[in-house]
Amino acid sequence: MKIAVLKEKGDETRVAAIPETVKKLAALGPGIAIEQGAGESANISDAAYEEAGATVAQRADVLKDADVVLSVQGPDAGDLAGTKAGAVLVGALDPVRRSDAVRAYADAGLEAMAMEWMPRITRAQSMDILSSQSNLAGYKAVIDAASEYGRVFPMMMTAAGTVSPARVFIMGVGVAGLQAIATAKRLGAQVSATDVRSATKEQIRSLGAKPIFVDQVEGIEGEGEGGYAGETSEEYKKAQAELVNEHIGKQDIVITTALIPGRPAPRLINDAQIRSMREGSVIYDLAAEAGGNVEGTEPGTTVIRHGVKIVGPVQPARALAADAGALFSRNLFNFLAAFWDSESNRFVFPDDDEIVAGVRLTKDGKVVHDRLLENA
Ligand code: NAI
Repeated sequence: MKIAVLKEKGDETRVAAIPETVKKLAALGPGIAIEQGAGESANISDAAYEEAGATVAQRADVLKDADVVLSVQGPDAGDLAGTKAGAVLVGALDPVRRSDAVRAYADAGLEAMAMEWMPRITRAQSMDILSSQSNLAGYKAVIDAASEYGRVFPMMMTAAGTVSPARVFIMGVGVAGLQAIATAKRLGAQVSATDVRSATKEQIRSLGAKPIFVDQVEGIEGEGEGGYAGETSEEYKKAQAELVNEHIGKQDIVITTALIPGRPAPRLINDAQIRSMREGSVIYDLAAEAGGNVEGTEPGTTVIRHGVKIVGPVQPARALAADAGALFSRNLFNFLAAFWDSESNRFVFPDDDEIVAGVRLTKDGKVVHDRLLENA
C-alpha cells in the first residue's frame, strides 16, 4: 500500500499530511510518498517528512503505484496523470462547484472522497474538516476584524480618559461563530450573538455573551437535520430583520457565519442596516464565498459602504497554514485509520458504511453520490 501526498497549487498554504500524521500512517503499514516542497508554505521541510518515515520525490514518482492520494484542494484530473485506476483520492474536492473535475475523476477510474461531505455523526467528529477549519476561521475573523477596526477591543482606563469596549455581534453560532464569540470575549469586547437554532442560546450564554433572538416566531428548533440549519419562513425573516434593525446600529463589529447546506447563504444584513452603523465599523462576512450574508460583500476583497468596511474573506484558515494544515491532516488520518484493515493490510471502504456513503463521489468509472446524481 502506498499513500501519496501532493504539493498544493495556487494560494493554498495547507498540506494534507504533517510529519506527525506521516508517522502514524506509516505505523499502520503503508509507505508514504510526499511531493517535493509540499510542506514549504506551512514551514515543513522535506527533511522533516523524511525523518518521519516518508520518501520525498517528484510528482510523477509520488503518484506512480499510489493506492491513496491525499490533497487539500481537489487537484485537476490532469495533475493526477499516471495515477492507477482504482486509487482513492481524498481531499476537500468541492464537488458541487467542481462537477467537471468529479466527472474527470470518474473517467480516470479514481475513487474520489470529498471530506466536506463527512456526515455529522459522533463517530465522524474527528474526521470533520469543516469543523476544524471553521474553528480557525472563527478565530481569524475576529483577529482580522480587530486589525481593520481603528479602535481597541477592551475597555481601557487611562490617565487621558476611558476607552469604551468594542461591541461585537456574531450572526450564526455554529462552529465558527462559537469560536468567534470566545475570541472576541478574550479580547475584552462586549459580545452578543444570534442564530436560528434555539439550541445555541444556552451555548452563547455559557461563553459570557448575550443572546439576541427572535422569540415570537419559531426558528429551527433543536439542531435541525444533521446539525445544520434549514431555510427559515418569510415570517421569521421579517422578524429577524426587525431585530437586526434595532441591534446593528449599536454594533462596532459584526461577524456573519450563517450557512445553509446546498443553498446560497441567507441574506442577513441589507444596505439600510449597513447605513445605520457608525462609520469605521467593520463587517466580516465569513459566508462571502457562499454568496454572502451581507449586501455588497465581494469574496477576496474589502469594500467600503456608507463608511463601513465589509470584508469578504476567502478560506481564512489558510492564513494559519501550520495549525490549519495540522488539523486538516489529523482529520484525514482519522478518516483513513478508521478504514485500515490490519488483517489484509489495506484500506477497505465498505459500500454500506455511513461515512463512506457520505463522502464517496466516484467509483468504478461512475459518479455514484446521490447528491450529484440528483443534480445531474
Ligand atoms: P454552518 O456552518 O452550517 O452554519 C453556521 C451557523 O449559521 C449555524 O449555527 C446555523 O444555524 C446558522 N444559520 C443558518 N441560517 C441562519 C440564519 N438565517 N440566521 C442566523 N443564523 C443562521 O454550521 P456549523 O458551524 O457547521 O455547525 C452546525 C451544527 O452542527 C453545530 O451545532 C455543530 O456543533 C454541529 N456539528 C456536528 C458535528 C458532528 O457531530 N460530527 C461536526 C460539525 C458540526
